[in-house]
This record gives sequence, C-alpha cells and structure tokens, in this order.
Amino acid sequence: MEFSIKTGNPEKQRSDCIVVGVFDTRKLSEAAVVLDRAAEGYLTTVLARGDLDGKLGSCLMLHSVPGIASDRVLLVGLGKATEFKEREYRQAVRASFKALSGTSVKSASTYLADLPVKKQDAAWKSAQIAEIGQDVDYRFDVMKGKAAQEEKAKSAKRVAKVAVAFIEKSEGKLAESGLKQGLALAAGVSLTKDLGNLPPNICTPTYLADQAKAMGKQYGLQVEILDRDQIAKLGMGSFLGVAQGSAQPPKLIVLQHKKGKKSQKPVVLVGKGITFDTGGISIKPGAEMDEMKYDMCGAASVLGTFKAIAEMDLPLNVVGVIPTCENMPDGTAIKPGDVLTSMSGQTIEVLNTDAEGRLILCDALTYAERFEPAAVVDIATLTGACVIALGHHASGLFSNNDKLAQELLAAGETAHDRAWHMPLWEDYQPQLDSNFADMANIGGRAGGSITAACFLSRFTKKYEWAHLDIAGTAWKSGKDKGGTGRPVPLLTEFLVKRAAK
Ligand code: BES
Ligand code: MN
Ligand code: ZN
Repeated sequence: MEFSIKTGNPEKQRSDCIVVGVFDTRKLSEAAVVLDRAAEGYLTTVLARGDLDGKLGSCLMLHSVPGIASDRVLLVGLGKATEFKEREYRQAVRASFKALSGTSVKSASTYLADLPVKKQDAAWKSAQIAEIGQDVDYRFDVMKGKAAQEEKAKSAKRVAKVAVAFIEKSEGKLAESGLKQGLALAAGVSLTKDLGNLPPNICTPTYLADQAKAMGKQYGLQVEILDRDQIAKLGMGSFLGVAQGSAQPPKLIVLQHKKGKKSQKPVVLVGKGITFDTGGISIKPGAEMDEMKYDMCGAASVLGTFKAIAEMDLPLNVVGVIPTCENMPDGTAIKPGDVLTSMSGQTIEVLNTDAEGRLILCDALTYAERFEPAAVVDIATLTGACVIALGHHASGLFSNNDKLAQELLAAGETAHDRAWHMPLWEDYQPQLDSNFADMANIGGRAGGSITAACFLSRFTKKYEWAHLDIAGTAWKSGKDKGGTGRPVPLLTEFLVKRAAK
C-alpha cells in the first residue's frame, strides 16, 4: 500500500473512491458536506433512506455519485460525537480500510484525515491512517504454493494507493511528517509480524542472525553475531544449557543504533528468541504446540523496533541484545534437576526445562551490563500465567524502577499498545528457593508471571530495568492466527520520547 498526502476539495479528487465520515444520519462531516453540495444533495437523500445508521464504524459504499470526479464514495459512520477520542477515531479508520479491502477499489482518498480529534493534529491523524492501513492490508502468504500465489495476485482485491486527504492546503506539511513517522512504525510492525509468522524450520537462530546482519547493512547499524564458542567464552552456561538439546546452533545477536551523542548512555532492548519451544524434556502437550514458533516474538519486536527507529533516523543510542536458540528434547538436552551456572556466577537448578526463556534471558541481561545502560527493557513471551492474568489486551510490565515503569506505561497508552503494571515484591522471591543451587528456575503455579520476573530481577540489580511479558499480546490464535507486531508501537514511542528529552 502506497501513501501520499493530498489537499483540496473532495469532489475534484480523481480516485476509485473518496472516503468521508458521517456523524449520524443527519450530520455530515465537513468533507461530506462539500461532496453533498457538489452532488446537489445526493448524500443527504441517500442517508434519509436509512441504509446507514451512522453507528461508529458502519460503512456504506455509493457508486456513481453525480457531480464528483471519483467513481465511488464510502460513507463511514462516526457515531454521535462531533469530536473524536483517539480510540474511536482509530476504530473508524480501521472500519474504512476493512470496507475497502475486498472491493475493486485500487486507489482511495480518505478525508477521515480531516476529522477533528481531541488534542490531535494532522501529523497524528496521518500517522494513524498509515499504521492502521498497513495493519489491515498485511498478508503473509510467502509460504503458499506457487499456484495459490499466482491465483491470489490475479484476483487480489487490495487497495494499492491511499491519499491522506485534507481540504485545507495548510495541513499538508504537518501531515507529511506524520505520514513518515507512521510508515516507519508500520515497517517495523510488519517485520515483527513476518518473523513471527515464518515457520520454525525457516526462522531459526541463524535466520534471525542473518536478518539482523542484513538490517545492519541496509541502515548502517553495527551488528555482531556471537556463535556457540564465543557464548561459551562469556560463561553463559544458562543460555547454553537451553541450546544444548538442539541441532540448530545458538546465536547471540548484538545490534547498535548509534545516533545519539557519544556521551549518551544507551537504552538496551533484550528480546527472547526461542525459535521453537517444545518445552524440552518437560515436554509440552501437543495441542497448539505449533504456536510455540512465536516464542521468538520478543526478539522479533527488538528487530522491528530497530527497523522503525532506523527508518526515523532517531537521534538516540540504542543497543539490541538477542539470545536465540531452540528448546528441544534430546539425548543431549538439559534435564530436570540439572544445575546450570549463569554468566553472573549464580547457579540455577532447572526444575522444569519448559521455563527456558528466563534461562536464556538471564545471561543476556548480565551481558547488557557492559553497555552501562541508561535503562534495559527485556521483551519476552515468557509465561502462560501472564495470559491468564491479563488476557490478550495488555502486556505485563514489571520493573525495578517506578519512573521507568511509568514511562513505558505512558508510551503504551499513547501508542495504543498498552501494558499493565504488575508487582515485583520481595514477598514473591522465596518461591524461587532451591535446596541445591542459588535458585530454582520455577516458582510454582501461584503468580507464575511474577515469579518469572522475580527470577530475571536477580540479574538486573546493576541498572534500571523493566520486563514486558508479551505472551498474551504478541500473536493471535484461532482463525485469525498471526503475529500482531506488538509491542513495537509501545517500544518505538518510548524511544521517540527518550530522544526528544
Ligand atoms: N514460551 C512459554 C510461555 C508461553 C506459553 C507463552 C503459552 C504463550 C503461551 C514459556 O517458555 C513457558 O513454557 N513457560 C512455562 C513456565 C512454567 C514451566 C513455569 C509456562 O508458562 O507454562
Ligand atoms: Mn517454555
Ligand atoms: Zn518459551
């Protein structure tokens, strides 16, 4: 989908479809009023017939409207309000793109950009239209056979060109800058979805490393890939323990976006990159096990965020650290009862090999110390317990620093990619006591997402740190199975705000 900014009157735009809003069956938006005048009251007449109820997100496609240059007009119901809240506006924009997909419209001019939204300007609205348009348009069919692809390409009912349209010329400049930001974020989100959706026989640790290298080349990032020997030299016994049951070699991916002042301490993003989680010897049940290909979505969100900030050329220093491997059962795999020595020197009794995310993250978090970070944020599909606690709407947020937590929560609100603050109280720590090592890798069923965060907190004492458990938000199950690209919007917003400080 290609986007551009257009200004001028709607009746003069030449495209397959003009998109305008209608507040209820009687009140037209400004652009709709202009169209209605050119069409000598045609829209008012149609609305009076009652086919569109004006409910938020309801849509009605009109053909051959008299007096206008375009073939169609899509009316989008906006509800009763006359000024939108952000959430409602996004809903209307999403509905409009959904209504267009599946039609033969190839080019559209959307005057939804010209609607008033509380406290927001043309830049924000343009960014939203780009992000939501790309989200609705997203497809993942590279793994379908040739015949299916050719068939699809022929009959593909997809909008190719979208003009973000304003009546007033003066809005153009702001809109251009917003569109650029929105497209940068959308590119990051799309990469994160792609990496998640790829099958685990293709998206291996080596594949992720190659993707990072390619991105480094494209954007001039510093990228380093550490192999098994180098990881061993660093003393990452916990990470290597998880990796040892797999035929795929582990990788530690380190990316650096150095666009801030030299003296500026970096933000470090650490992403869990389990490219497939069978559970290991503590093997998972078979149902929906395929979804454990998404267990690298933390890693994918780090790469997606790097793409977004690279596209934006964000003036900030950011480091990405991605421990990546498979968690497999094998004669060489770790067993319940094994004790591993982490890079920090702390020993870990593995009571359940399925609690592997924390085992690879703890070493990556120790590695992060060398960057003298301003803050470290790890992102991980860490616990099923987090899905039970928060469902699929909010990511779980844990932090050893309340200011950092507030900053991330606010970024999530702004980006409409929310997180919820969970406790990290000392009270939970004893659940990790082990009779044989410094700690166990599990803390029992009660508060499972919290004890997982408690485990990580034992490796993050030297800096400000936050942990995002994205087990419930990184992908969707069921008939719409697919990566969501979350929490790239949250992370990107967090970094954009840091760069502006
Ligand atoms: N990758 C899983 C977490 C997960 C499970 C995410 C289901 C999304 C859906 C993680 O490695 C895991 O298996 N965690 C265990 C921990 C337990 C053994 C303490 C879990 O949540 O069951
Ligand atoms: Mn697991
Ligand atoms: Zn896992």
